[in-house]
Amino acid sequence: MTYARILATGSALPERVVTNADLEKIVDTSDEWIRTRTGIRERRIAAEGETTGDLALRAAQQALQDAGVKPSDLDMVVLGTTTPDLVFPATACLVQDRLGANGCMAFDVNAACSGFMYALGVANNFIRTGQVRRALVIGAETLTRMVDWSERESCVLFGDGAGAVVLEASDEPGIIATCLHADGGYKDLLYNPVGVSVGFTDEKNHGVRICMRGREVFKVAVKTLDALVDETLQAAHMHADQIDWLIPHQANLRIIEATAKRLGMSMDQVIVTVDKHANTSSGSVPLALDAAVRSGRVKRGQHLLLEAFGGGFTWASAMVRY
Ligand code: UT7
Repeated sequence: MTYARILATGSALPERVVTNADLEKIVDTSDEWIRTRTGIRERRIAAEGETTGDLALRAAQQALQDAGVKPSDLDMVVLGTTTPDLVFPATACLVQDRLGANGCMAFDVNAACSGFMYALGVANNFIRTGQVRRALVIGAETLTRMVDWSERESCVLFGDGAGAVVLEASDEPGIIATCLHADGGYKDLLYNPVGVSVGFTDEKNHGVRICMRGREVFKVAVKTLDALVDETLQAAHMHADQIDWLIPHQANLRIIEATAKRLGMSMDQVIVTVDKHANTSSGSVPLALDAAVRSGRVKRGQHLLLEAFGGGFTWASAMVRY
């Protein structure tokens, strides 16, 4: 059996830190509200001219260097994002060229906040079927570019950032199981109303912005993630007490705590970065994974449960032996 093994991780964040106190100055909110409702204390915001591709490139370079893999050795670059640099070419193609990995397949996956988990699932299957030996999987966003800074309900929630992993085919696990799902019936609860085909000005004349019915998203997210972690354990033929670390999507600390509770895991076994990064959509899980690896918490041989939930709705997970 061939598995996809994570050789190394990388990440990149914009320099500029925006705290809750900074946001108090532009919308009617408070540090106390943001912290208690979401767990967020600060977020990073991309500089003018700094793109999703720039962040993705930095995360990828770090992961490749730590993996000891040359860009020319890659067979695949797959990048989860909902904020690509251009409509086309795919940001994965732009990053592939800047890395010097020209020639291998490269494409983006848009699954909103589940983008990295979807990209990981796709790369895993290419490796398992023997078509790819080494893959670069990236989750990268400049989500704040589509934030309406006058809407306190949403502007406090998001941030920019990127994370990456290098995968290689191995006889040893590896990614043990992945589960990918979507239900487009929930499209009206979390979406961006504009696009190439429908046009870039919506009926309210707001242009690009995130529209979210937060309370409803919250409820569906908790219920769906409960079912997803059960499904993942079953697919991996494992019990919850065999998981060393939960590395969840970083949207809201209360959602993360609910999933940990479902698994009977203490918060000491959960990687939390939402306080520092806020919700970076596709960037969130690989940023958390990289933070966990670099801080020495995640060690070789440990079992990690990665999961995400986002617009679509989409939801996806992976059980990984690191
Ligand atoms: O990554 C993709 C998936 N997205 C998510 O997972 C997000 C899921 N949803 C959430 O995380 C939460 O629902 C939010 C953080 C978005 C909102 O928290 P909540 O506890 O569900 O608050 P709420 O929407 O029920 O609003 C409670 C109150 C409202 O005031 P009233 O009607 O009770 O007077 C809001 O107007 O809080 C008010 N409010 C705020 N107050 C201060 C909403 N946003 C703010 C704000 N500052 N930024």
